[in-house]
Amino acid sequence: MSGREPILRIPRTIALVGLMGVGKSTVGRRLAARLGLPFADGDDEIEQAAGMTVADIFTTLGEGGFRDGEARVMKRLLEGPPMVLATGGGAILNADTRALMKVHSTSVWLRADLKVIASRVQRRDTRPLLRGKDPLTALSGLAEVRYPIYAQADVIVDVGAGAHGEAVDAIIQGLTTYYAAQPTAGETA
Ligand code: S3P
Repeated sequence: MSGREPILRIPRTIALVGLMGVGKSTVGRRLAARLGLPFADGDDEIEQAAGMTVADIFTTLGEGGFRDGEARVMKRLLEGPPMVLATGGGAILNADTRALMKVHSTSVWLRADLKVIASRVQRRDTRPLLRGKDPLTALSGLAEVRYPIYAQADVIVDVGAGAHGEAVDAIIQGLTTYYAAQPTAGETA
């Protein structure tokens, strides 16, 4: 192996899961570039399919309508060729999506301190589940319900408040360890 780059042979999609604001999209884009894989952002794909923003989908169709569309888009992406996929924070609430993720992807939970996430999400007002709420309180409520589900991910990576490049390194390290222990799920060379 030369330099700091591990040579990872990625046999299937890397699905990033975790709360909104943890950096799935930004980190995912960089991870995809490092691994030479295509990247897709679940929310962007839903917006393209619906021709509306996520916020507008929530307003016009409600959260249920959004979740139905999200499940359809997740199915299409998860059944497609390997990629790095940044999932919306609530995508894993759908049992079919979870089952598809198990079959078609290696899932990675990006976990961070809730205070770090709360300070990040304050910069944007695009997330319907946080609108008009105290971010830390709202995120804590979501964490209570979702952390037991995120915890079922194949790989768990703690991301701090540092540079996104550090998170990418930590994910690659986590994947390398995971694949080394699971020869059927992937290989390191
Ligand atoms: C949601 C997270 C958002 C988006 C929608 C709902 C959630 O995606 O799908 O606002 O339920 O956690 P990000 O996690 O990419 O922000």
